[in-house]
Amino acid sequence: LNNSTHIEEVFSSGYSVFAGRGALKQLDAYLAKPANRHSRHFVLADENTMQHCLPALMAQVPSLSKAEVVEIVSGERSKTIETCIQLWEVLTELNADRHAIVVNLGGGVICDLGGFVASTYKRGIDFVNIPTTLLAQVDASVGGKVGVDLMNLKNQVGVFSYPKGVYIDPVFLNTLPKNEIMSGFAEMLKHALIADADLWNELINFDWSLLDVMDSLIVRSVRIKNKIVLDDPKEKNIRKLLNFGHTIGHAIESYSLEGSGKELVHGHAIAIGMVCETYISVALCGFPAEDLEEVSSFLMSNYPFYPIDSMAHHRLIEMIRNDKKNRANVMNFTLLNAIGEGVYDQHVTADLIIDSLNYYQSRQKAVAHDY
Ligand SMILES: NC(=O)c1ccc[n+]([C@@H]2O[C@H](COP(=O)([O-])OP(=O)(O)OC[C@H]3O[C@@H](n4cnc5c(N)ncnc54)[C@H](O)[C@@H]3O)[C@@H](O)[C@H]2O)c1
Repeated sequence: LNNSTHIEEVFSSGYSVFAGRGALKQLDAYLAKPANRHSRHFVLADENTMQHCLPALMAQVPSLSKAEVVEIVSGERSKTIETCIQLWEVLTELNADRHAIVVNLGGGVICDLGGFVASTYKRGIDFVNIPTTLLAQVDASVGGKVGVDLMNLKNQVGVFSYPKGVYIDPVFLNTLPKNEIMSGFAEMLKHALIADADLWNELINFDWSLLDVMDSLIVRSVRIKNKIVLDDPKEKNIRKLLNFGHTIGHAIESYSLEGSGKELVHGHAIAIGMVCETYISVALCGFPAEDLEEVSSFLMSNYPFYPIDSMAHHRLIEMIRNDKKNRANVMNFTLLNAIGEGVYDQHVTADLIIDSLNYYQSRQKAVAHDY
């Protein structure tokens, strides 16, 4: 992907994932195909993607010239069933039939929410994803999981449902704030840690001035996710690898949503989760201690420190026990045998989780950094 107009079809299996500058042209081609004629087009955006991304979408996808654009308030707090109800009502009031299509233009919130609304409206209408954050490009837009939060619990209600296509254009990253870039970068680091040691080395040595290189790293990251998802779409086994960093990370993210602390962007919570879960990997999986030093130093110098009071431990453990991934009170984790080698279904005790949170806290003095 060094050539700025190159578009790569990452894979095609029921639906296509296109990545590269100009990927939107592929969306236009899809929408214009007579066999795909949709009765109506709905674009779902938030106020930021409305401002920064909609003009490029409309310019490059003439097939959307008559689309209804629906705007929601940006952020995780919109990823609720209440917003779904509003959107189902809008679709109903605008007489959307079963041949309508929803075009999700935004980050993970828009892709998760819009995908869920489309998958349930009249038992399911078509949708496509145009991920505009790095996190959505390498993670949320691909993999077929859609849904919303409930009672501050992440993704508590949802379904598996695939978009008709995913169109990843790195040009959208130009307007994305640095903390959002770092949020997506955390998921790229996760893909490397569970599956590709070479990618890990490239990411930790990444020169941020070389954006063309970033484009190719995005494609490699999407390929890792897709390969895992295609092998195990319903998360019976290997897909659990993608949960690395997310068991503790999601609990910390939910905790921050409860208003107990400063609200965290998703990837920042996952970065903290990866530090803790790499620590646990040393204790349970023989992960080399010197590599823990490399992983935690890199993460802690690139993501601001987030204080987690020991008073929060009980609540965090409660949230981990309530995690969808767990059954019968066993706390199931994905850990690492080595950099590039994840291992799933590891049982972790509450004491070890607390040790790992204390390890994270103890590293605070080692690195002080802000975005
Ligand atoms: N379904 C999955 O497999 C999956 C995987 C990972 C994460 N997720 C979900 O994704 C969500 C997080 O996604 P996110 O980090 O993209 O959050 P987000 O959708 O809230 O986007 C982050 C912010 O960036 C803004 N934004 C988006 N594109 C922009 C652009 N091009 N320029 C400027 N601003 C822009 C948004 O308006 C928002 O304020 C979480 O809800 C998480 O649970 C889902």
